[in-house]
Amino acid sequence: MCYTIEMNDAYFGNSTFSINQRRYLGSKTKLLFFIDEIIQKENITFETFADIFAGTATVANHFYDNCKIIVNDILQSNNYIYWAFFAKDKIDQKKLNALLDFYNTIDIEKYDGNYFSQNFSNTYFDEKNAKQIGIIRQDIEDLFDRNIITFREKAYLITSLIYALDKIANTVGHYDAYRKVNIENKKLCLLPLNIKLSKYTPQIYCQDANELIKKIESDIVYIDPPYNSRQYCDAYHLLENIAGWKKEKVFGIAKKMERGHLKSKYNMKSAGLAFGDLIDNIRAKYILISYNDMGISGNLRSQARISDYEILSALKQKGEVKVFETAFKQFTTGKSSKKDLKERIFLCKVSFAAKERLIFSFKLNPMASGFVKSPLNYTGGKHKLLPQIIKFFPQNIDIFYDVFCGGANVGINVEAKKIICLEKNKYVVNLLKLIQKNNFEYLHKRILNIIKDFGLSQSFIKGYGFYGANSSNGLGQFNKTAFLKLRDAFNNDKSKLDLLLTLIIYSFNNQIRFNAQGDFNLPVGKRDYNGSLRKNLISFNQAANEKSISFKVCDFRELEKIKISQKDFIYLDPPYLLGLASYNELGAWKETDEKDLYCLLAKLNKKGIRFALSNVLKHKGKTNEILYKWIKENDFIIHKLNYDYKNSSYHLRTKNDETIEVLITNY
Ligand SMILES: C[S@@+](CC[C@H](N)C(=O)[O-])C[C@H]1O[C@@H](n2cnc3c(N)ncnc32)[C@H](O)[C@@H]1O
Repeated sequence: MCYTIEMNDAYFGNSTFSINQRRYLGSKTKLLFFIDEIIQKENITFETFADIFAGTATVANHFYDNCKIIVNDILQSNNYIYWAFFAKDKIDQKKLNALLDFYNTIDIEKYDGNYFSQNFSNTYFDEKNAKQIGIIRQDIEDLFDRNIITFREKAYLITSLIYALDKIANTVGHYDAYRKVNIENKKLCLLPLNIKLSKYTPQIYCQDANELIKKIESDIVYIDPPYNSRQYCDAYHLLENIAGWKKEKVFGIAKKMERGHLKSKYNMKSAGLAFGDLIDNIRAKYILISYNDMGISGNLRSQARISDYEILSALKQKGEVKVFETAFKQFTTGKSSKKDLKERIFLCKVSFAAKERLIFSFKLNPMASGFVKSPLNYTGGKHKLLPQIIKFFPQNIDIFYDVFCGGANVGINVEAKKIICLEKNKYVVNLLKLIQKNNFEYLHKRILNIIKDFGLSQSFIKGYGFYGANSSNGLGQFNKTAFLKLRDAFNNDKSKLDLLLTLIIYSFNNQIRFNAQGDFNLPVGKRDYNGSLRKNLISFNQAANEKSISFKVCDFRELEKIKISQKDFIYLDPPYLLGLASYNELGAWKETDEKDLYCLLAKLNKKGIRFALSNVLKHKGKTNEILYKWIKENDFIIHKLNYDYKNSSYHLRTKNDETIEVLITNY
């Protein structure tokens, strides 16, 4: 575009756009007083404030004068707004005013149609405004490409455009749909921004909050995630389209572009899992969380994705928790019948112990924290090895087979179009299905009822002292009789899987073992239904619902009958011939099984199907010679894994007798 820049400061009078002038779903502008009240009442002092689901950034903006802010949102349209209002980079206000003036008075007749007018005329905007928006946005891009404006100046102009178009859009405040009425002839008017100055330099991000949280530290971390199934990238796709300006193909009546990469986990069924992971990784003195009580009546899409139980149990791991409530009129999409809701803020004062724990766990294993841990401790130990194993798996797998899946620690954590977990033990498979099929609240209630019926301990409510126990000698003595009663009840009616689930929770090391008659035969363990078990149950339940994963009773030999393609991948974790685990104590896995397995894998290898096999090559001075010979004959690759067995009673390591755990791959 060719134009001359004329300075025209007088044009705008005193009109400006202020940051909190936007209508935005879940905006907390009206709640700022409530956040202030809590901070004052609790005597919270702070020098940094992180708003990691910032939306309009009205909350971060509230503290911008007084401390260093960290501001983040997954949407790029929001990120430009933060750059415009908060960044420190110099801007040439006269140049920007002249551009705004020029944009407001463009003679659109002189221009051809553009991407925006072709796609959005007579939808959210009339034809004239759509054309003007397209011309302006393209000009901003051109000016930036030609180095006439800086990145912050680009952000400034895009922000002014977003605020201006939002004011005239033919919507109820979001872009899920436009109103089917005659579009009024409104005038698009870009205004200068009302920028506050602060002596503090902010940190501005556009990331998934769960990724960001691993990199930042702040006195207060404020968390205001989406509450329900409505994705923000759906509601604000048009602003994202303007911000990204990739001129993408748009679809459907609402003219949305492809948004898969912008979908938030917090709008999905697995929100609780993402939330738990976020809280685990926070390094802060205080955590403040806004989370609405959406109730259970009304529109299904409006219902809260994270239960109070999940919020509280995650926060209680970090420190002392208080909940504050106030009545609040929420800006909704207009579909929900529940507008007068209680807005709650959860405050967690992070304890010294939790901070220490976090630093320690980061040092110990920075990758492990992101993995779901199965509540069934069947094959033992694979969860700890996951970071080392998964890094060898190929990308873009169609079907992932987790053979000998046990608790499905591997299957539940991999990325593939479809995941099929195969296991011979029907009880294990049925338990996995039970956990997948029912929601957590239901399972939780069933377990609590069984605990009550059989008189088992509830140390999570009453503490160890109540049972005359401490954490080193454990609860075995107290639970022994009740546990044996529960074990008999299950062995007498093996269809009662909820009894088995509870039995495992109270059994030795949470393991599963059946004798030759098929009866569960493990003794009582030291622990009970504690926080980490509940967390594992919740996260497994959510991940199993989120992924396309299924569990099947199947002997590994049946793999031969399944049509497997070269885009699929097979992971196998068979019982080890060198006999480390409780399930092989009865010698259920024999040399013939081992040979059948190798024969099958060699056949799959010939068909070009990729696999990875876990095993132990050496244990207590013995080498698995069959395995070693087979690897050498076929030229497979051995990856030595680093496992510290010293804390496990059945995984021994002495100075002379090294245990070598390996992953064998054919690629
Ligand atoms: C309830 S709104 C926040 C409202 C904000 N406090 C305000 O006052 O405007 C939730 C925000 O979280 C963002 N979001 C959703 N998932 C996210 C994720 N995984 N990481 C970062 N931001 C996310 C959405 O784009 C949305 O802007």
